[in-house]
Amino acid sequence: MDIGGSGIKGCVVDLDKGELVGERLRIPTPQPALPDPVYGVVGDIVGQFGWTGRIGVTYPGVMKHGVVFTAANMDPSWVGTDMAAGLEAVIPGTVQTLNDADAAGLAEMEYGAGRGERGLVLMLTFGTGIGSSLFIDGTLVPNTELGHIEVDGQDGEIRASAAAREREDLTYPQWAQRVDRYLDTLERGIWPDLIIVGGGVSKKAAKWVPLLSTRTRVVPAALLNDAGIVGAALAAEQRIGQ
Ligand code: BGC
Repeated sequence: MDIGGSGIKGCVVDLDKGELVGERLRIPTPQPALPDPVYGVVGDIVGQFGWTGRIGVTYPGVMKHGVVFTAANMDPSWVGTDMAAGLEAVIPGTVQTLNDADAAGLAEMEYGAGRGERGLVLMLTFGTGIGSSLFIDGTLVPNTELGHIEVDGQDGEIRASAAAREREDLTYPQWAQRVDRYLDTLERGIWPDLIIVGGGVSKKAAKWVPLLSTRTRVVPAALLNDAGIVGAALAAEQRIGQ
């Protein structure tokens, strides 16, 4: 299951192939996106699949041991809630929770653009915000929040997320300049061997990735919109996450 600010998505995942089994289900996130109504939607989706096994659930903020710590793009009432306990009260299976970008990164490292990559790999997801996940020799360092580094006095994701491009009607070259500036700031503090760029905009990678001037090699994600769900399932199976 992948919980986002605009949609809640779920599917059964084939972990041998790293692929969704059949069509995924997507239900718009109830507004306001309060915990109880969101748990209700997760319960509906799980019920429609008739699934009773372990379930991986992503959340777009810092997660530690099932508890939510931040809500940059969610209702502030999430902060401090025990999401794992809340979900386990409404669905039959055991829940493994983790940050959405950490899940996407796990999927890319196992099945996608990060497969076989050693060293320090950074995955960035460009969507409503900017999510980050960091891997050292394939092992996840959870809850990095590199979308919130300060760039020119502003929170990084405010200017360089995919939502900023849409909100401000930027062309890809205009937006690429913002991403470049964001990555330039990031590269002052961290020296990855590879950066994987994901989120819906990775489908259009040819329009903006070649315009970046990073010293680090940048490659587009391979799993596109399914990375969160696939990574959630992987986390549930391997009991990775927070
Ligand atoms: C949150 C991250 C999340 C990212 C993508 C950011 O605003 O702080 O935790 O991974 O958005 O959803």
